[in-house]
Amino acid sequence: MSITVRAAAKINLHLGVGRAREDGFHPLDTVYQAIGIHDDLTLTEADVLTIETLVADHIDSAAVPGGADNIVLRAARLLAEHAGRPATGAFGVRKDIPVAGGMAGGSADAAAALVACDRLWDLHTPDEVLLALAAELGSDIPFSLVGGTARGVGRGELVTPVADHGAWWWVAAPSTEGLSTPAVYRHFDTMRPEAPEVPPPADALLAALATGEPLRLARALHNDLQEPAIDLRPELGDLITLGESEGALRGMVSGSGPTVVFLCESAEGARATALGLAGSGHDAVLTATGPVAGAHVVSQGVSQGVS
Ligand code: C5P
Repeated sequence: MSITVRAAAKINLHLGVGRAREDGFHPLDTVYQAIGIHDDLTLTEADVLTIETLVADHIDSAAVPGGADNIVLRAARLLAEHAGRPATGAFGVRKDIPVAGGMAGGSADAAAALVACDRLWDLHTPDEVLLALAAELGSDIPFSLVGGTARGVGRGELVTPVADHGAWWWVAAPSTEGLSTPAVYRHFDTMRPEAPEVPPPADALLAALATGEPLRLARALHNDLQEPAIDLRPELGDLITLGESEGALRGMVSGSGPTVVFLCESAEGARATALGLAGSGHDAVLTATGPVAGAHVVSQGVSQGVS
């Protein structure tokens, strides 16, 4: 018996960051969107817990964290402990989401692992319990379960879906080398010692989202981690300028970076921007629409991949 779960990359349309809390985390007011770049995770019945990872061409396999610390295995162990059963199964993960790219690739895999284990182990865990376990594993993981477009507060783990009737076109330009999320937050602390306790609200972004107009959304995009990310990696600023000169409405660092995402007017606009970036040497660019669903089962069968 095996089950395959698909989980999407996320971008932050608005990422308002406040001054660090006593526990070291930063209060956030963010709007997440799940976009159509996916990792697929297959869990097959087995006596022990194992993981094998297959990566897309644009991903450096050495960058994928291995060993017992892998977030997929931690998710499986956490759910097993909660359910009072052994953590067993053979995970196969096919990665398309850039690693350490600010697109919640690890979080997507963890969310997919929670869904796959819950189903394969026949647990029927209530949604609110899965969301709480997800929050324990990482700030972005509850959103990876929920998907669509949603507001996140707290440290990003308290998620409420928001209305989004748009079909937005994005181009994502990953970097060959990842950027550490804690390092970017630490740099934010250095650059913004006067950051407010309450993070900047997402009101303007939410209003723009409701119009369904790409140009309005482009103007409202906001990321407080962009400045520290560009200060650590100045070439990201050049990449944003390049994509905007190739027709994107607006380029922005995704989350803590280093992936840069470009909002485009249409499918055609996204294709033109992707081609323009590829012509300048950024040939690993990905084109995607959003919003898309959160972690969900795509096939289930007696052997891997059989629906
Ligand atoms: O929660 P998660 O494990 O994804 O967070 C990774 C790191 O990012 C944290 O250890 C922390 O350094 C930083 N972080 C933060 N404030 C947040 C979310 C993450 O400082 N709201």
